Amino acid sequence: MKKQLQSLKRIGFTVGMTAALAASSLAQAEDKLKVGLMLPATGTFAALGTAITNGFKQYVAESGGKLGGREIEYFVVDDESDPAKATENANKLVKRDHVDVLVGTVHSGVALAMAKVAKESNTLFIVPNAGADELTGPLCSPNIFRTSFTNWQPGYAMGQVAAAKKAKNVVTLTWKYAAGLQSVDGFKEAFEKAGGKVVKEMTLPFPNVEFQAYLTEIASIKPDAVYVFFAGAGATKFVKDYVAAGLNKTIPLYAPGFLTDGTLEAMGDAGQGLLTTLHYADGIKNAKNDAFRLNYAKTYKSQPDVYAVQGYDAAQLLAAGLKAVNGDFSKRAEMVKAMEAAKIDSPRGAFTLSKAHNPVQDFYLRKSEGRDNKVLEISAKALADPARGCKM
Ligand code: PHB
Repeated sequence: MKKQLQSLKRIGFTVGMTAALAASSLAQAEDKLKVGLMLPATGTFAALGTAITNGFKQYVAESGGKLGGREIEYFVVDDESDPAKATENANKLVKRDHVDVLVGTVHSGVALAMAKVAKESNTLFIVPNAGADELTGPLCSPNIFRTSFTNWQPGYAMGQVAAAKKAKNVVTLTWKYAAGLQSVDGFKEAFEKAGGKVVKEMTLPFPNVEFQAYLTEIASIKPDAVYVFFAGAGATKFVKDYVAAGLNKTIPLYAPGFLTDGTLEAMGDAGQGLLTTLHYADGIKNAKNDAFRLNYAKTYKSQPDVYAVQGYDAAQLLAAGLKAVNGDFSKRAEMVKAMEAAKIDSPRGAFTLSKAHNPVQDFYLRKSEGRDNKVLEISAKALADPARGCKM
C-alpha cells in the first residue's frame, strides 16, 4: 500500500514536471527571439552593412515576421569596421541586451573578435560576410556558421582564371588585414600551382585610399596583371585611380567580385569591363533570384548585391534551425544539427555547408557591364574551402 502510494506520488510529480517544462518552453516560444545585428553603419563598408541588414529583414518579412514561429526582435550596433572596438561592441549585444543570436559582420578583424565573445558566452553566431579563414578553420565551432565565403575561396577561383588567361607575372595590392592578406594567399595558391608567379605583394593600412605611390610602382614593374582585394567605398576610389593613371589600358585588373559589387554606379565609366570572381552575379537565372531581386527592389528602391544575398541567407539558415525545434531555442544541439544539414535555397543557387560550417558553392567569372556584374561562366564548381586547422 505504501509502495503504491509512493509510485502514485512519483507519477504525479512527473506529470507536474512535464507540464511545467511544456509551459516554460511554450512561454519561450511566445517570447520574441532576440537577434543582434552587429554591422558597419559608418565608414568604408557602411553600404555593405545596410545591404546585409536589408537582406536579413527581407527574408524575415517574407516569412511573416517570424522564424520557426518566433517573432524577431532586433538589437543593432554600428561596429564601424573597427577591430579595436569589436569586443566591447559584441558585449553590448551579448551581455547587455542578452541576444539569442549574434549576426555579423563585414570586416574580418571585427568578426574574429566577435567569435571570441560568442565562444566564451556560447552564443549562436552567424557570419553574413567576413571571410576570415580562421572562423571556419582553426576557430571552427558548433555555434559558428557562415553564409558568405572564406577569403581563400574567391581568391583561389581568380588565381585559376588568371592562369587560364596566360598571365605569368602578377603584382598584388590590398589592405593589410586578414581579408586582403588571405585573399592574396588564395589567389597565389591557385595561380602558382598553375605555373604563374606573384612577383610583388604590396599592402597599405586599412582603410587608406592613397594609392598613387603603388600605382607608380606597378607602372614601373609592368606585370602581366594586377590582383587586388578592395571593397566598398575604397574599391570605388581604387578603380577610379587605376583608370585615371591609364594602367587599365595595358595591365588587366583581376579581383574578387567585392571590387564591383554595390560600387559600379559610383565608379561610372571606370568600372566597365572588369573581370571578377564571386559566388553571386546579377544575372543568375533561377526562380529564387528573380523573386528575391524583385522584392528587394520593391522594398528598398535599389538593386541587391552579394551582401544582400548573404544577409538574406543568414536569416534562411537561422530559420532552418528554428523550424526543426518549433522555435524552442533551448534545443540548441538539435538546432545546430538542422543548420548543418540545411540546403539553403539561395538567390546565388542552392548551397550546403561544409563540415566547418562554410558554404560549398559555385564561383562565377563575371564582367561588369552597365550597373551589372554579368556571368561569363562558372569558373569553379562547388568550391569548398580546405578548412585547414578545423577539428570538428
Ligand atoms: C572582410 O573583411 O572579410 C571583407 C570585407 C569586405 C568584403 C569582403 C570581405 O567585401
